[in-house]
Amino acid sequence: MTLTGLQEGVDRILEGGGSDEEILQGVVEALEQLVEHYSWVGIYLVDGDDLVLGPWRGPHATEHVRIPIGQGVCGAAADSGETEVVDDVNADPRYLACFPSTRSEIVVPIFDEGRVVGEIDIDSDRAAAFGENDRAVLERIALQIGPHCRFGVATD
Ligand code: SME
Repeated sequence: MTLTGLQEGVDRILEGGGSDEEILQGVVEALEQLVEHYSWVGIYLVDGDDLVLGPWRGPHATEHVRIPIGQGVCGAAADSGETEVVDDVNADPRYLACFPSTRSEIVVPIFDEGRVVGEIDIDSDRAAAFGENDRAVLERIALQIGPHCRFGVATD
């Protein structure tokens, strides 16, 4: 499956409608199933000063279901609003380990109305698995799903 096919799959999920949670679950399942080098896919949602794990898909659950913004690779991306690509997780001191098999990671912030409301976090069992094409497709998907991430945002 090419990344172009992935974009088409995500377009179909968004056109199909449903609740925000169903749409995000569909997107993480498409990402994990359609791209071979995506081993674990999750969406974290901003909740105050934390990121809270929302829909995810992969072989194992992660213990990192709540990550303070600023901690880990996930927290760094939420803090800066910039995509993080880590070619070798074991060489990055920020990395919060989830799965022993993970070798590389990409974290793409999700924006809605100009602020970070969440992020797409993908682990790969391959070293340096994420290239410019991954970044471009995932950043586009992140823009598309931004309006569907409001349910996880604290409003008080
Ligand atoms: N590795 C992430 C934590 C989340 S798990 O990969 C699912 C980090 O360093 O922030």
